[in-house]
Amino acid sequence: MSVIQKNHLEIFRQSLQRVTASEAFFDRFYDNFISQSEEIAAFFQNRDMLQLKKKLRETLHMLAESAEGRPGLGLYIEMLGRIHHRLNVQRRHFTMWEEALLDAVKTYDEEFSDQVLSAWLDVIDRVIDSMFAALNDAKKLAS
Ligand code: HEM
Repeated sequence: MSVIQKNHLEIFRQSLQRVTASEAFFDRFYDNFISQSEEIAAFFQNRDMLQLKKKLRETLHMLAESAEGRPGLGLYIEMLGRIHHRLNVQRRHFTMWEEALLDAVKTYDEEFSDQVLSAWLDVIDRVIDSMFAALNDAKKLAS
């Protein structure tokens, strides 16, 4: 994964600490996301939401540690790319995902600012790009 601007990573890390102090952040995010459309709701039918919230928490914390060059992060993102590809998740769904997440950040970060917003956008946009890049590489290999 390409390198995230260092100050963005620090701002992201601090904001993440504030918003994830309570589970309510994850409840809010999934409520936002799932209520966006029936199409999104269908993705989450019969899923273990408790488990998903836990995994999302772990993933966000992994991203926050990425400056230390966490080993295996690239492979993990690649795996996430494959999981979402199999679920038939498309680019436009990722845009909706990001909007729902940022809305929850806005609600739960009492120090929310334009800088905080840019930091989250930087981190999340790169993850999304990396998930798709890994898929495109795999397709090239397969062809
Ligand atoms: C950058 C954006 C996203 C991240 C970081 C993310 C993260 C995750 C993680 C960590 C998991 C658990 C994977 C595992 O089983 O180990 C997961 C599963 C899942 N994600 Fe995402 N996700 C993203 C975007 C989306 C989008 C746009 C959708 C579209 C609707 C979506 C739908 C799902 C569903 C349905 C599962 C459950 C899969 C299952 O139960 O087997 N995700 N996601």
